Amino acid sequence: MTEIVPQPGLMEIDLYVGGASSVAGHETILKLSSNENPFGPPPAARQAVERAVRDLHRYPSTDHAALRAAIGDVWGLDPDRIVCGAGSDEIIHFLCQCYAGPGDEVIHTEHGFAMYRISALAAGATPVEVPEDGRVTDVDAILSACTDRTRLVFVANPNNPTGTMIDAVEIARLADGLPGQAILVLDGAYAEYVEGYDAGAALIEARGNVVMTRTFSKIYGLGGMRVGWGYGPRAIMDVLNRIRGPFNLSAPALAAAEAAVRDRDWLIRCRTHNAKWRDWMAGALDALGVASDASRANFVLARFGSAQEAEGCDDFLKGEGIVVRRVAGYGFPEALRITVGDESACRRVVDAVARFRGAR
Ligand SMILES: Cc1ncc(COP(=O)(O)O)c(C=O)c1O
Repeated sequence: MTEIVPQPGLMEIDLYVGGASSVAGHETILKLSSNENPFGPPPAARQAVERAVRDLHRYPSTDHAALRAAIGDVWGLDPDRIVCGAGSDEIIHFLCQCYAGPGDEVIHTEHGFAMYRISALAAGATPVEVPEDGRVTDVDAILSACTDRTRLVFVANPNNPTGTMIDAVEIARLADGLPGQAILVLDGAYAEYVEGYDAGAALIEARGNVVMTRTFSKIYGLGGMRVGWGYGPRAIMDVLNRIRGPFNLSAPALAAAEAAVRDRDWLIRCRTHNAKWRDWMAGALDALGVASDASRANFVLARFGSAQEAEGCDDFLKGEGIVVRRVAGYGFPEALRITVGDESACRRVVDAVARFRGAR
């Protein structure tokens, strides 16, 4: 009998493990495991959703024109070269489907986001992991890993779960050094947390081989709505649109994202809060002997003395109803990734770590 088998590469995909959102024995928890905005979306986004639910029987926009216009206005980008997806995950997926296949290589960094490998394998391509340099993207290592089969290079800037980033000069050097057939994908999921950072927009205008991905799941507080977008050269965005489902975003999601991106004050308030409490949390953990690199995102990668200690702390925090992220799957068995919450959340998690370490 002929066997039913999936496409090559698919059985190499490990199921994505999201941040836990419950703890046995705790009715309410403090969730600091998924890099969500503790304040959620701006009120205008909630109101937009309330309005949108009146028309749930209608199909949503297929060209996302209103959302693309809003994104274009706010970030000074050409709306015709924006493609919206169900989270930036979907844009990552489109890029792999459109530009990588069997025999092609997709580069991602050592501690890069899990979806790069998953989407590369889903497209039948070969993921290639490149070492970082002390938990920072290493441009030279990426350039030396490139071959004539390299089609995509994914770099999250700032990166998850390290929180570190490389500067514009390094990114330009990377874009310039890639082989002609390769696209540099700058994943800007956390870009809005970095004041003055354009997420690669200027580089995209100056080169034909750079694309950025962005999301509404982080600073805009809309992870539950699943909205992301990509921006790049017209020729590439045109290809992505060809495989995009005509109704890949729901009407409430589109409405929420449009209202959220137009609320520039919300972004500034959330970014200011985040920077203050992230740095406070990192400093307080450091004082307890728990080191971290300077994070540019909305989380801190807290490094403990050993994997055993990190696991022990995670269990202790769970016992207190606090959920953070274990990151052994990202190559950090000795670390826990802690999302920056509101002030009381930051104080509570630091206090719990202090008690775990016997400092209080
Ligand atoms: C670096 C990075 N890229 C992309 C994503 C995907 O975000 P979404 O699909 O919610 O837009 C995440 C989510 O955690 C991330 O950390």
